[in-house]
Amino acid sequence: MTGGAGYIGSVMSRILLEKGYNVTCLDRLFFGTDSIKDIADRINLVRDDVRWFKPEILKGIDAIFDLAALSNDPSGELDPQKTLEINYKGRVRVANLAKKYGIKKYVLASTCSVYGFQEGIITEESELNPLTTYAKANMMAKKEVLPLADKSFSATVLRQATVYGFSYRMRFDLAINGMVLGFYRNGKIPIMRDGKQWRPFINVKDTSNAFVKVLEAEPELVNGQVFNVGSDEQNVQIFDLAKLVAESCNLPFNYEWYGDPDTRSYRVSFSKIKDTLNFKPQTTIRKGAKNVFDALKEGRLNPDDPRTITVKWYKHLLGMQQFLKDTEINGVIL
Ligand SMILES: NC(=O)c1ccc[n+]([C@@H]2O[C@H](COP(=O)([O-])OP(=O)(O)OC[C@H]3O[C@@H](n4cnc5c(N)ncnc54)[C@H](O)[C@@H]3O)[C@@H](O)[C@H]2O)c1
Repeated sequence: MTGGAGYIGSVMSRILLEKGYNVTCLDRLFFGTDSIKDIADRINLVRDDVRWFKPEILKGIDAIFDLAALSNDPSGELDPQKTLEINYKGRVRVANLAKKYGIKKYVLASTCSVYGFQEGIITEESELNPLTTYAKANMMAKKEVLPLADKSFSATVLRQATVYGFSYRMRFDLAINGMVLGFYRNGKIPIMRDGKQWRPFINVKDTSNAFVKVLEAEPELVNGQVFNVGSDEQNVQIFDLAKLVAESCNLPFNYEWYGDPDTRSYRVSFSKIKDTLNFKPQTTIRKGAKNVFDALKEGRLNPDDPRTITVKWYKHLLGMQQFLKDTEINGVIL
């Protein structure tokens, strides 16, 4: 797994270990090792970069989940060149090396945000409308990764809905988690204007299980395929989502607006993954939001951890990189 110490990867690693798999995590550890410290002795941790790791580490690997990325739209705009290097070229490199080293399955962690703004219900066949560097990099990676699929190499792209729920590398920059945090902090849910935009959601354990479904599926079902990952019931308009989050936390509904009107709005069909792989998410938005709220109340999540807002943390790392340059110290931070 690349990006195995991240928000999704740290949950996915635990699920794979529980299922008895041997797990290797290749990660630059931009967010540190807290997320995997209690499983560190059960995984093979490789601190390295998808752009330049030595391919020999792929020997003996059966399948790759490729999660490493600058993981959202605002982070992707901090340095678009680096975003393309990692999220596009990095993934294409990993997929090509996987094929070269005889790895049987490769799964790319993509996003439904490649659909951008669109009317109607979107399927895997719909036109893409990537509006940001992050979304474009996902689209470009898919275009080069899927043609690698052949009889002995299975390549699959999973376009995940926006993820929510508790993780060991927490992200409060994801819509549901951010709403819960705002509620916890000052009793008001922050809502991005104008609240009418549609978004699909999925719990972090459920999206991890979708990768496992692909891993365990007959290659004929998944090879060369794109799947949207989520469920039709969890397509929600943002204002309704805020009400749902308030109900889940058992608190009166109070909110505050922020931001410019969101240009991204999409409703997605998840029939293909349901019909092909019998994939059905087990967690509801209600349960996932309550779980995050409880974790905050019980001190299992630190609301002030600066690493939980991805773009701020990467900005901080880029600042350190500039500092190294200015002081002529050799070293790569990002
Ligand atoms: N969280 C979501 O809502 C969501 C939705 C759709 C798609 N995705 C995609 O799923 C994947 C995982 O997302 P996440 O939320 O866990 O993000 P994350 O930022 O928590 O995790 C990404 C991990 O990748 C590592 N990484 C970054 N660049 C690297 C590099 N060059 N080499 C090695 N490791 C590197 C980071 O250290 C981090 O641990 C990403 O590809 C993301 O774009 C996430």
